[in-house]
Amino acid sequence: MATFIVLLGPPGVGKGTQAKILADAKKLAHISSGDLFRENIKNQTELGKHAKSFIDKGELVPDDVTINMVRERLHRPDCEEGAILDGFPRTPTQAAALDKMLAEFNGRVQSVPYITATKQVLVERISGRWTCRQSGHVYHQMFNPPKQAGVCDLDGSELYQREDDKAETVATRIHVYLEQTIPLVEYYRSNGTLVEVNGAQTVEQVSMDLCSAVKK
Ligand code: AP5
Ligand code: MG
Repeated sequence: MATFIVLLGPPGVGKGTQAKILADAKKLAHISSGDLFRENIKNQTELGKHAKSFIDKGELVPDDVTINMVRERLHRPDCEEGAILDGFPRTPTQAAALDKMLAEFNGRVQSVPYITATKQVLVERISGRWTCRQSGHVYHQMFNPPKQAGVCDLDGSELYQREDDKAETVATRIHVYLEQTIPLVEYYRSNGTLVEVNGAQTVEQVSMDLCSAVKK
């Protein structure tokens, strides 16, 4: 059976960083709903234009749009063995839709690592983040600096700060997370898939804890 793992956690906790490491280790696809939206914004698609109006305010993109985008992504051949989902689902409606979609593949969500950290840690991580223009590689000015300031080590493209990483938008994103995504903690706890992981450690320590959490 294909392996589907959902990384749950607040903005800036390190979902993208850990999803990439886990996907490489397990040879699974990495699906980040935020990266899919940013790719559409970069390519100026209709979906991108629609999503941008919500993302720039720190609000969630409507469920139907988000669910259709992820459904399309899950049907690509690299998801046959499964995927690490990062940033999706984010509402109870999305979680129910994901269960239905995976049932179509005879699959289900196997494990939901819930990565946590204090608000102070989240703000510190988001405010120091630099993202690469070409492929979305992520750096941090203190914790993971690029070799050359402003340039991606991996593809040489320019590094930029995300529009939604401004302090006031981050406050909205955290508020939206508490209101709309926190209910998923109980949803996955009650079906026995939730495993808590302390995100306030080094990338390597979180990654080790995450690997053992998903083996349980
Ligand atoms: P999305 O892109 O998913 O953003 P997010 O959930 O707010 O999370 P981030 O990407 O900001 O943080 P992260 O947890 O991935 O942390 P990262 O690894 O980068 O969503 C953006 C927007 O798109 C949403 O607001 C919404 O509008 C829309 N959207 C997306 N999905 C949606 C959905 N399902 N439904 C509706 N709308 C949706 O790390 C952060 C920084 O910390 C980096 O600089 C990194 O280098 C550093 N770092 C990471 N780990 C560590 C560590 N252990 N120690 C030190 N530094 C670390
Ligand atoms: Mg991310």
